[in-house]
Amino acid sequence: MKIYIINGANLNLLGKREPDIYGTDMLDSINNAITEEAAELGLDCEFFQLNHEGDIIEKLHEACENADGVVLNAGAYTHYSYAIRDAIKAIRKPVIEVHLSNVHAREDFRQISVIASVCRGTIAGFGKTSYVLALHALKDIL
Ligand code: DQA
Repeated sequence: MKIYIINGANLNLLGKREPDIYGTDMLDSINNAITEEAAELGLDCEFFQLNHEGDIIEKLHEACENADGVVLNAGAYTHYSYAIRDAIKAIRKPVIEVHLSNVHAREDFRQISVIASVCRGTIAGFGKTSYVLALHALKDIL
Protein backbone atom coordinates (compact mmCIF):
# COMPACT_ATOMS: atom_id res chain seq x y z
CA MET A 1 0.00 0.00 0.00
CA LYS A 2 1.38 3.36 -1.04
CA ILE A 3 0.65 6.34 1.22
CA TYR A 4 1.37 9.96 0.33
CA ILE A 5 2.31 12.12 3.32
CA ILE A 6 1.63 15.71 2.26
CA ASN A 7 2.67 18.66 4.41
CA GLY A 8 1.55 22.14 3.44
CA ALA A 9 2.56 25.72 4.06
CA ASN A 10 5.32 26.55 6.54
CA LEU A 11 5.80 22.98 7.72
CA ASN A 12 9.31 23.03 6.25
CA LEU A 13 10.10 25.35 9.17
CA LEU A 14 9.29 22.81 11.87
CA GLY A 15 11.86 22.76 14.62
CA LYS A 16 12.38 26.52 14.39
CA ARG A 17 8.79 27.64 13.98
CA GLU A 18 6.90 28.37 17.23
CA PRO A 19 8.47 25.40 19.07
CA ASP A 20 6.18 25.99 22.06
CA ILE A 21 3.27 25.02 19.79
CA TYR A 22 4.77 22.69 17.20
CA GLY A 23 7.65 21.15 19.16
CA THR A 24 11.36 21.02 18.35
CA ASP A 25 11.36 18.09 15.91
CA MET A 26 12.28 19.02 12.37
CA LEU A 27 10.17 17.69 9.50
CA ASP A 28 12.89 15.15 8.58
CA SER A 29 12.85 13.65 12.03
CA ILE A 30 9.03 13.44 11.97
CA ASN A 31 9.27 11.76 8.57
CA ASN A 32 11.78 9.25 9.97
CA ALA A 33 9.36 8.33 12.76
CA ILE A 34 6.61 7.89 10.15
CA THR A 35 8.86 5.70 7.98
CA GLU A 36 9.68 3.44 10.95
CA GLU A 37 6.04 2.97 11.88
CA ALA A 38 5.05 2.48 8.25
CA ALA A 39 7.58 -0.36 7.97
CA GLU A 40 5.96 -2.07 10.98
CA LEU A 41 2.55 -1.69 9.35
CA GLY A 42 3.70 -2.77 5.90
CA LEU A 43 2.95 0.63 4.35
CA ASP A 44 5.16 2.43 1.86
CA CYS A 45 5.22 6.21 2.41
CA GLU A 46 6.29 9.01 0.09
CA PHE A 47 6.85 12.45 1.58
CA PHE A 48 6.05 15.88 0.15
CA GLN A 49 6.21 19.37 1.61
CA LEU A 50 4.59 22.03 -0.53
CA ASN A 51 4.11 25.65 0.39
CA HIS A 52 1.84 26.57 -2.53
CA GLU A 53 -1.84 25.75 -2.66
CA GLY A 54 -1.77 24.73 -6.34
CA ASP A 55 1.16 22.39 -5.73
CA ILE A 56 -0.79 20.63 -2.98
CA ILE A 57 -3.75 20.28 -5.34
CA GLU A 58 -1.52 18.78 -8.04
CA LYS A 59 -0.02 16.36 -5.53
CA LEU A 60 -3.51 15.26 -4.51
CA HIS A 61 -4.35 14.66 -8.18
CA GLU A 62 -1.17 12.59 -8.49
CA ALA A 63 -2.18 10.63 -5.38
CA CYS A 64 -5.35 9.66 -7.21
CA GLU A 65 -3.21 7.74 -9.71
CA ASN A 66 -0.29 6.62 -7.53
CA ALA A 67 -1.39 6.24 -3.92
CA ASP A 68 -3.87 4.20 -1.91
CA GLY A 69 -4.31 6.85 0.77
CA VAL A 70 -3.09 10.25 1.90
CA VAL A 71 -2.10 11.81 5.22
CA LEU A 72 -2.53 15.57 4.82
CA ASN A 73 -1.43 18.40 7.05
CA ALA A 74 -2.54 21.33 4.91
CA GLY A 75 -1.27 23.90 7.46
CA ALA A 76 -3.21 27.16 7.34
CA TYR A 77 -4.89 26.15 4.04
CA THR A 78 -6.98 23.85 6.21
CA HIS A 79 -8.96 26.83 7.39
CA TYR A 80 -9.91 28.44 4.08
CA SER A 81 -8.90 26.54 0.95
CA TYR A 82 -12.03 25.44 -0.88
CA ALA A 83 -9.76 24.49 -3.78
CA ILE A 84 -7.94 21.89 -1.66
CA ARG A 85 -11.29 20.73 -0.32
CA ASP A 86 -12.55 20.20 -3.88
CA ALA A 87 -9.38 18.28 -4.79
CA ILE A 88 -9.79 15.94 -1.81
CA LYS A 89 -13.39 15.32 -2.78
CA ALA A 90 -12.47 14.77 -6.43
CA ILE A 91 -9.80 12.12 -5.94
CA ARG A 92 -11.98 9.61 -4.10
CA LYS A 93 -9.12 8.25 -2.01
CA PRO A 94 -9.09 8.20 1.79
CA VAL A 95 -7.43 11.37 3.07
CA ILE A 96 -6.72 11.71 6.79
CA GLU A 97 -6.46 15.31 8.01
CA VAL A 98 -3.73 15.73 10.61
CA HIS A 99 -2.45 18.56 12.76
CA LEU A 100 0.45 18.67 15.17
CA SER A 101 -1.34 21.09 17.46
CA ASN A 102 -4.83 20.89 18.90
CA VAL A 103 -6.40 23.38 16.51
CA HIS A 104 -9.64 23.31 18.52
CA ALA A 105 -7.88 24.84 21.51
CA ARG A 106 -6.35 27.72 19.52
CA GLU A 107 -7.53 30.89 17.75
CA ASP A 108 -11.11 30.96 16.44
CA PHE A 109 -10.02 30.83 12.79
CA ARG A 110 -8.12 27.58 13.42
CA GLN A 111 -11.21 25.94 14.82
CA ILE A 112 -12.72 25.91 11.34
CA SER A 113 -11.58 23.26 8.90
CA VAL A 114 -13.07 23.51 5.43
CA ILE A 115 -11.53 20.14 4.54
CA ALA A 116 -12.68 18.06 7.53
CA SER A 117 -15.99 16.98 6.05
CA VAL A 118 -14.39 15.60 2.87
CA CYS A 119 -11.62 13.79 4.76
CA ARG A 120 -12.05 10.28 6.13
CA GLY A 121 -11.20 11.60 9.60
CA THR A 122 -9.14 14.10 11.56
CA ILE A 123 -6.34 13.64 14.11
CA ALA A 124 -5.03 16.73 15.89
CA GLY A 125 -3.02 17.62 18.93
CA PHE A 126 -0.49 14.82 19.30
CA GLY A 127 2.56 16.26 17.57
CA LYS A 128 4.29 13.71 15.35
CA THR A 129 2.09 11.00 16.86
CA SER A 130 -0.82 12.55 14.92
CA TYR A 131 0.84 11.27 11.71
CA VAL A 132 1.57 7.86 13.23
CA LEU A 133 -2.05 7.50 14.34
CA ALA A 134 -3.16 8.45 10.83
CA LEU A 135 -1.09 5.57 9.43
CA HIS A 136 -2.85 3.17 11.79
CA ALA A 137 -6.20 4.55 10.66
CA LEU A 138 -5.31 4.04 6.99
CA LYS A 139 -3.99 0.53 7.65
CA ASP A 140 -7.33 -0.24 9.25
CA ILE A 141 -9.54 1.04 6.45
CA LEU A 142 -7.52 0.09 3.36
C1 DQA B 1 -1.20 23.09 11.80
C2 DQA B 1 -2.25 24.03 12.40
C3 DQA B 1 -2.55 25.17 11.43
O1 DQA B 1 -3.52 26.03 12.01
C4 DQA B 1 -1.32 25.97 11.14
O2 DQA B 1 -1.58 26.98 10.21
C5 DQA B 1 -0.19 25.11 10.69
C6 DQA B 1 0.05 23.86 11.38
C7 DQA B 1 -0.77 22.00 12.79
O3 DQA B 1 -0.17 21.03 12.34
O4 DQA B 1 -1.01 22.12 14.00
O5 DQA B 1 0.59 25.49 9.82
O6 DQA B 1 -1.77 22.45 10.66
